Parts: sequence; C-alpha cells; structure tokens
Amino acid sequence: MSRSLIERGLTWRWTPQAVVSQIRDSETAVVVAWADDRMLGFAIMGFRFLRSEAHMLLLAVDPAARRSGVGLALWRWLETIARRGGIARVGLEVRAENSGGRAFYHALGFREVARLRGYYESREDALRMVADLRPRRRCSCSAEGRELRTARG
Ligand SMILES: CC(C)(COP(=O)(O)OP(=O)(O)OC[C@H]1O[C@@H](n2cnc3c(N)ncnc32)[C@H](O)[C@@H]1OP(=O)(O)O)[C@@H](O)C(=O)NCCC(=O)NCCS
Repeated sequence: MSRSLIERGLTWRWTPQAVVSQIRDSETAVVVAWADDRMLGFAIMGFRFLRSEAHMLLLAVDPAARRSGVGLALWRWLETIARRGGIARVGLEVRAENSGGRAFYHALGFREVARLRGYYESREDALRMVADLRPRRRCSCSAEGRELRTARG
C-alpha cells in the first residue's frame, strides 16, 4: 500500500523490512484499520518523547475506502497516543502535488510551514506541515469510527 499509494514514482524505501523495523521500534506507533479481514488503511508515527514531538511517517487508505473517515480514524488513534504521551507538536512532509493529502491534513488541523525544494530524490518538492496538539482542536470532518488494531495487537 505504501509503495503504490505513497511512494509512487519514487525509489521504494518502505519495504516490508523497513515497516517491520518500525513496528519493533518502541518509539513508533503503527495503526491498521480493518473491516472484517480487509485492510482499509494504515499509519505510522514516530515519537520523540524527550522533545515532545512526533512525526507522521506514513498514512494511506485503500482507494475503495476513501472519504468515509478511515484516515481520520487512523489520525485520531495516533493523536490520542501522542496527547497521552505529552506530545505538543506533530510534523510531516507531503508531496507538494498531492492536493488530496494536503486537503486531508488541513482538515485535521495541520498547517503548511515550509516548502522543501527537491525533497524527494532531488526532483520533487515536499510541503512540511505541522499540527499543535494543545489546546485541543476540533476537526471539520464529518465521519468517524472504524475498527482499529495496533500492529502490536
Ligand atoms: C489522504 C488520505 C489518507 C485520506 O484518507 P480518507 O480516509 O479518504 O480521509 P477521510 O475520509 O478520513 O477524510 C477526512 C477529511 O479530510 C478531507 N479530505 C480527505 N481526502 C480529501 C481529498 N481527496 N480532497 C479534499 N479533502 C479531502 C475532507 O475534509 C474529509 O472530510 P469529509 O469527507 O467529511 O469532507 C487518502 O486519500 C490516501 O490514502 N491518499 C494517498 C496517500 C496519501 O496521500 N497519504 C498522505 C500523505 S503521506
């Protein structure tokens, strides 16, 4: 899912081995959304608790399951973990041309803070986005709620 939906056109970095190593990392949360036995989406967030910061590494939803609140539900799980861990700010990079991804993160309360020229393999720009977790904000989205399991069970 990461390769086809996020890294499309780029060198494949998020191989199964790379994802497994994130699952095993005690400062990383991996959340997966399921409906019956079908995987709807997943997200990976890394935490730097000593700095009260977190970084969204990956988040993707199966195209057939989009615009039904799966992405929002994944974010809500990670946001809850982050808040409970005292995280004050979450950052991420998104491809500048990914208008859907940018709109999604805007809806969650992220704002664009920088354009990183050539961030992806020196040929594609990224936008850095951040969200401050305090004080609590409200999302403008309508849908919520999916069954979620953490990768650690
Ligand atoms: C971006 C992505 C994760 C959104 O997942 P999703 O499950 O469809 O998102 P949700 O249904 O939870 O949407 C929540 C809100 O975000 C906004 N939003 C989501 N996708 C949007 C889009 N394509 N265009 C505009 N707004 C969008 C809307 O405000 C939406 O609320 P609404 O449906 O009530 O209007 C999904 O499109 C995806 O996997 N894209 C490819 C990978 C990617 O871009 N990942 C993020 C960057 S790494």
